[in-house]
Amino acid sequence: MGHIGTPTSRVDGRAKVTGTARYAAEYVAPDLAYGVVVSSPVARGKIRAIDASAALAVPGVVQVFTHENRPSLAWFSRSWQDEVAPPGSPFRPLYDKEIHYSGQPVALVVAEEFEAARHAATLLRIEYETLPHATDLGAAREEAYEPRKKRSGIPPPAKPRGDAQAGYEAGAVKLEAEYRHGFEHHNPMEMHAATVVWEGDGRITVYDKTQGSQNCQSYIHNVFGIPSDQVRVVNAYVGGAFGSGLRPHYQLFLAVMAATQLERSVRVVLTRQQMFTFTHRPDTIQKMALAADADGKLTAFRHEAVQNTSRFEDYQEAVVNWAGLLYKCDNTLFDYRLAQLDLPTPGDMRAPGAATGLIGIECAMDELAYAAKLDPLEFRLRNYSEIDQDNNRKYTSKALREAYHIGAERFGWGRRSMAPGSMREGGELIGWGMATGVWEAMMMKTAANAVLHADGRVEVACATSDIGTGTYTILAQIAAEALGVDLARVTVRIGDSDLPKSPVSGGSWTAASAGAAVDAACQALRKSLFKLARGMDDSPLANASLDRVVFDGGAIRLADDEARAVALTDVLTAHHLSLVEEEGAASPSMISSMRYSRYTHSAVFAEVRVDAQLKVVRVTRIVNAVAAGRILNPKTARSQILGGVVMGMGMALYEETMPDHRFGRFMNHNLAEYHVAAHADVQGIDVIFVDEPDEEVSPLGVKGLGEIGIVGTPAAIANAIFHATGKRVRELPITIDKLL
Ligand code: MOS
Repeated sequence: MGHIGTPTSRVDGRAKVTGTARYAAEYVAPDLAYGVVVSSPVARGKIRAIDASAALAVPGVVQVFTHENRPSLAWFSRSWQDEVAPPGSPFRPLYDKEIHYSGQPVALVVAEEFEAARHAATLLRIEYETLPHATDLGAAREEAYEPRKKRSGIPPPAKPRGDAQAGYEAGAVKLEAEYRHGFEHHNPMEMHAATVVWEGDGRITVYDKTQGSQNCQSYIHNVFGIPSDQVRVVNAYVGGAFGSGLRPHYQLFLAVMAATQLERSVRVVLTRQQMFTFTHRPDTIQKMALAADADGKLTAFRHEAVQNTSRFEDYQEAVVNWAGLLYKCDNTLFDYRLAQLDLPTPGDMRAPGAATGLIGIECAMDELAYAAKLDPLEFRLRNYSEIDQDNNRKYTSKALREAYHIGAERFGWGRRSMAPGSMREGGELIGWGMATGVWEAMMMKTAANAVLHADGRVEVACATSDIGTGTYTILAQIAAEALGVDLARVTVRIGDSDLPKSPVSGGSWTAASAGAAVDAACQALRKSLFKLARGMDDSPLANASLDRVVFDGGAIRLADDEARAVALTDVLTAHHLSLVEEEGAASPSMISSMRYSRYTHSAVFAEVRVDAQLKVVRVTRIVNAVAAGRILNPKTARSQILGGVVMGMGMALYEETMPDHRFGRFMNHNLAEYHVAAHADVQGIDVIFVDEPDEEVSPLGVKGLGEIGIVGTPAAIANAIFHATGKRVRELPITIDKLL
């Protein structure tokens, strides 16, 4: 007992640090061939000719795949693209001679050795016809449109309330401003890779870097027409993903195509530079228009955003869907548009939409607080909304007020002087800023099973993934708690398409969803074991009922007389069973979803120190107070928030991919020039979990977290920089040049 809520080290930690945990590119097979991807250097155009003769002449080269010799395929059906595909037509690698974006894969060179493939890839001679391209959102925004078809799972912007224009004009203080942050690219430690093992009888086992093994299994079935029972996809370990692995990507396609064509095992690993050739956080421009009356009450809130998408899919995020949840205001207008660029379709990147939208909302709130001569926290409290005004619904829980207070207390916010530039130490300007974070508390339909073996081992299984978040650990805790066994007795099997059905792991929904499914399976197992125990000869539980026993210390005990007990292993022995297995499933409650809104919240406080002369910014302190329902494992939960905050620092100060619009290509496609926060950039981060009991949100009271850690962090830092310097930079990341 007492596993849930106890800080617990990762059960897979040892496997990870000793290298026994294997990742997609680490699986081996006899006669494994290596595929190297060749990428297009032009952003738009057509392939005129490909001369592969020099490449094919390299000893060890097995084949060069291009659009000219790829197999004819089923591709996508109208009804199935992939679990998280936005509306449109998904990218089809090697489909035809058309080039849609710079970096598009145009060939796969397969060889006996990786080095031979890599060398041969440089010998491919490809002639392109180039066509005009566009990669500048600033220029394309004029043609932005409201997406006609909504992306599933992304609510459209809320309908306008009141009269935003009149409310704006009536305000005593006003702010109209435009905010922007550039493109960001995913840089998990593990690069995207797929090892496809040819099993000899038409079956393949696919090790892919993905957040959803069953999503990839369906992709392979639909695109290649291979029956699902002949495809097993494994992603037992994922070296970080953050949304980059939600959709099947081209390494999967190319490896499966090559393996099935060559009838041998093939591995394809993208290079770090190729990691910049698919999913990315879109460039976003946000127009804000806010006003407040003399008491600091909002009279108008207008939030309009435009983001880039590709020419072939309408990727969408919830960017403008947050202000109506956070702040009381009678006059609102929210608008969201897309502009097409000659780039790959953007994709989800940690708290997609919210990480972005809360920059506009929370920087604008900070600016208006100054205009109203109010402390930024006080200004937010004056406009605090107890309900979701967009839908006129209550929250299942919302401990944001507590998060503000506890966070402010811990940070020492009360000692802040209001005037920008008023806090100095030596040659450094000190700035304190704050912002709010909000993210959805989602739950998805998920199944699991639970097994008790005769030797007392418990095994729980679900096809969900551990994308580095700690899923193995929390599922073990849930099973250990439900069955009253030691954590060490529990084995968790996930990351395998053969296991009970689960959606991709994303959206911070895994703990609530897979957690509830595992709990349901364990509850079913408890019931069966109890029945079996009661039926044993001279059972001490003969007259008991399930609600009057506890599972503890590997035994079923009478609640009011714990000495009267049956060991779990004895239950199986008595019935001559080698195991008992039960299934469980969990789904969100539709009635509850209609009645309540469900979100996690955070209050982020940031301290920056800015060199008065050189304008070098250091983030010296962050306090992030998070209200996210029940915390299953404070240790792994804290790690999630730490990671989110560090990514938020990246968004505020470092991360930006820069296209050279002449070439339509991201130029800084490596970790030397695409800056992420390094250890030296990360100083004191204080994570607080605010107590937030919530029995409505999901069966375990779990809201989920991870993504909430990034939301609000960039704005808190940007606001702190203003407080330090008096300079309002509305274009993120805030690099030194923008402060000079
Ligand atoms: Mo997350 S961006 O849903 O992996």
